[in-house]
Amino acid sequence: MRGDSDLRKAILFVDDEVNVIQSLKRITREMRSEWNMFFAGSGEKALQILSQNRTEIIISDMRMPGMDGAELLQKVRDRFPHMIRIVLSGYFKRENNLRLAKVAHQCLAKPCDINTLKSCIERLSMLQQRFSGKEKVVAAVNSIRDLPSLPGLYKLIVQELESPEISLKKIGEVIAQDIAMSARILQIVNSAFFGLPRKVTLPWQAVTLLGLEIIKGLVLGAQIFTTLEKGLKYKGLSLYKLWKHSVAVGVTAREIARSEAIGSKTAEECFVAGILHDIGKILLLKIPGYPQQLEGFIYEKQCSCSIAEQELLGTTHAEVGGYLLELWGIPGNIAGAVAHHHHPGEAEDKRSSILTCLHVANSLIGREAALDEDAFFHVLDMQYIRELKLESKLAKWLECCRKIEKEGMFQSKHLSFQ
Ligand SMILES: [Fe+2]
Ligand SMILES: [Fe+2]
Repeated sequence: MRGDSDLRKAILFVDDEVNVIQSLKRITREMRSEWNMFFAGSGEKALQILSQNRTEIIISDMRMPGMDGAELLQKVRDRFPHMIRIVLSGYFKRENNLRLAKVAHQCLAKPCDINTLKSCIERLSMLQQRFSGKEKVVAAVNSIRDLPSLPGLYKLIVQELESPEISLKKIGEVIAQDIAMSARILQIVNSAFFGLPRKVTLPWQAVTLLGLEIIKGLVLGAQIFTTLEKGLKYKGLSLYKLWKHSVAVGVTAREIARSEAIGSKTAEECFVAGILHDIGKILLLKIPGYPQQLEGFIYEKQCSCSIAEQELLGTTHAEVGGYLLELWGIPGNIAGAVAHHHHPGEAEDKRSSILTCLHVANSLIGREAALDEDAFFHVLDMQYIRELKLESKLAKWLECCRKIEKEGMFQSKHLSFQ
């Protein structure tokens, strides 16, 4: 049992093979001053250790006799939602990736060297530290099963899948419009199981790489729509409104990036960041009783959503969204931009063009700001804009937004990935 004075990170390794456990013990020996490690040879033994010791991270094998890795992590998710769950496996079967994606935050491929293990644990620990004292939010994020999505898009994807001329690119485009589905697919394709040399950030690339079967399984099996059917709709926080807003921000962020000739990859990433930027809002809706509390607070104090969130939870939807995306292994430039989209001046990488485009687009959209230049300057973080010496660009960006508004931001040409 860990004493109060032990500040080391508590990590549990689970593997049924004695050789693997021995090699894990060997490669992690140098970390003993920083990590308090437990080792278990089965799922049952792992649960026993967890019930007796406060542990932050579990790293489990997938294929084990009796309780396998996915089943174990599912139990851990339900009983110890604060924990970070990692799979370390040499088992590459695709169908299992789907099962794992629902229960594991990260997948690492065997054999795993100490540096990969260290950087993964350090990254996730830093995230956990940033959120220490905000246990409610961390537990909410870590216990998430599937994010709610939109039935309209679900139908479109199924329709596309059933058509005789299935086009991967078209499915990619449909999926890109969906916040939860995009994040989920990017999480899977970026996991170690696909062993891609670089991170995939665009949903259509993910669709091409994953193949139709996986997509079908994801779309039909995820059950995110069941959550929606239960009536996840609150005044001022309807998912449809949120979707429309996210698409609009994505389109605008991409247009701003293009106007600066930033590069097509970054411009597409701006679109993805826009689609995902308010994902934390959907997540927070899952905290029991919270949406009503938030609504009441905003009504009573007549304040912004972020101020209410800070007051009620000690964090914001932006931070929570960034946390979730980082936890899923979504590239840091997108996750970082999402985490700071309201207060870019607080970001570690202030000069990220994705962050700038996202912040400006989010400030422009949904506040009728595009028609009122004064309002535009009020919602922007002007200190940040001045620090980066971007004041002279504002007029052009405002023009960009007006153009999109005029052309109709939901026209399909703005949603395609050309
Ligand atoms: Fe936001
Ligand atoms: Fe937003």
